[in-house]
Amino acid sequence: MNARREWLKTTLALAAGLPLGAGMANQLMAAPMSEAEKNFFGRSPLLPPMKIRLGSNENPYGPSEKARQAIQQALSEGNRYPFQVVNDFKETLAAHEGVTADHILVGAGSGDLLCATGAAFSLEGGRILSGFPTFPMLMNYAEVFKTTWDKVNVNDELVYDYEAVAGQIKPDTRLVFICNPNNPTGTLVNPGVVKSFTEEVSKKVTVFSDEAYLEFLQPSQQVSMIDFVKKGANVIVSRTFSKIHGLAGLRIGYIVAKPDIIRKIQRNHPGIPNNQLAIAAAKASLGDKDFMDMSRRKNAEARKILTDYLDKKGYFYGKSHTNFVMFDSKSDAQGKLSQLAQQGIAIRVWDYKGMQWLRVSVGTSEEMKAFVKAFDQIA
Ligand SMILES: Cc1ncc(COP(=O)(O)O)c(C=O)c1O
Repeated sequence: MNARREWLKTTLALAAGLPLGAGMANQLMAAPMSEAEKNFFGRSPLLPPMKIRLGSNENPYGPSEKARQAIQQALSEGNRYPFQVVNDFKETLAAHEGVTADHILVGAGSGDLLCATGAAFSLEGGRILSGFPTFPMLMNYAEVFKTTWDKVNVNDELVYDYEAVAGQIKPDTRLVFICNPNNPTGTLVNPGVVKSFTEEVSKKVTVFSDEAYLEFLQPSQQVSMIDFVKKGANVIVSRTFSKIHGLAGLRIGYIVAKPDIIRKIQRNHPGIPNNQLAIAAAKASLGDKDFMDMSRRKNAEARKILTDYLDKKGYFYGKSHTNFVMFDSKSDAQGKLSQLAQQGIAIRVWDYKGMQWLRVSVGTSEEMKAFVKAFDQIA
């Protein structure tokens, strides 16, 4: 565990050009680890600094130029609490989403709000249902409060099985978590299916739609479940600035829901976790179409380098619509994780169906070429 903590501290500190506080590194420790990762980081000697970071689905091009300028300008407000700034930002987000500001809660990343939601719903006891594997933060946090997490496996193509999930709702299911495109599989379900599911299920149970990777789809494909919020349904939508906007290190995201749901979640959300710089950067990034288009395009190009390789070598992988790809490592995922880490390349390993899967985030094209080369030598 210590080796992993040091490794994360080193890589994050490198990213920021700063020494990293224990708080953030410890928070990352709460991120789910596969059995392979536990074994590896529990035993491994000190690792070299990670030169190629393909472990956390970050955007290698961020922050955008506009965000950087906004951060510079906001620095002089660093001595001021951001009370009014958060309120103004809620208004901006509300206008952007077509709702009123009491439908919005801003967090230190969307993960912060996933946890607050997990707490809010689990305090009532009962169960939370989701597909599996998926991004587990809300459910992991809810389990701390003794909620039961019911999981429904993705299908053979690693695609979230909405019909099967709907079939597993029980009388004491309090929340259903969906994620489209899904992490860690990267796969996408037709928005029509997700809409029908959300419409029907939200009549009985609150639906949480995690849309962290929505902007990696072409704009015409980006169908948010926010329309159901506007119709007064029991639906919560989370969005983040960590992915297409490239602001993962600044920690800012938001949820959209009916005001009574927002109040319920806010009761379990600490004070104001936002800061002046993150809000300024997010505001500048929100309408930055050029940066989003560039990130989406470069991501697709770099992702193809990886999937072309996987195709050539016959690896089975989920059809990715995101900035990561999950594939069956064929053998010894832990060994591959370890050998790549020794070369300064960070990836992740996920457990699913008694197997270990590799999840590789999409970096720049140069990084993907370097990954493919290094991976090919150890595969
Ligand atoms: C599906 C999904 N939701 C939420 C998050 C949390 O991101 P953040 O807290 O940076 O907004 C992640 C991070 O990887 C994610 O993959």
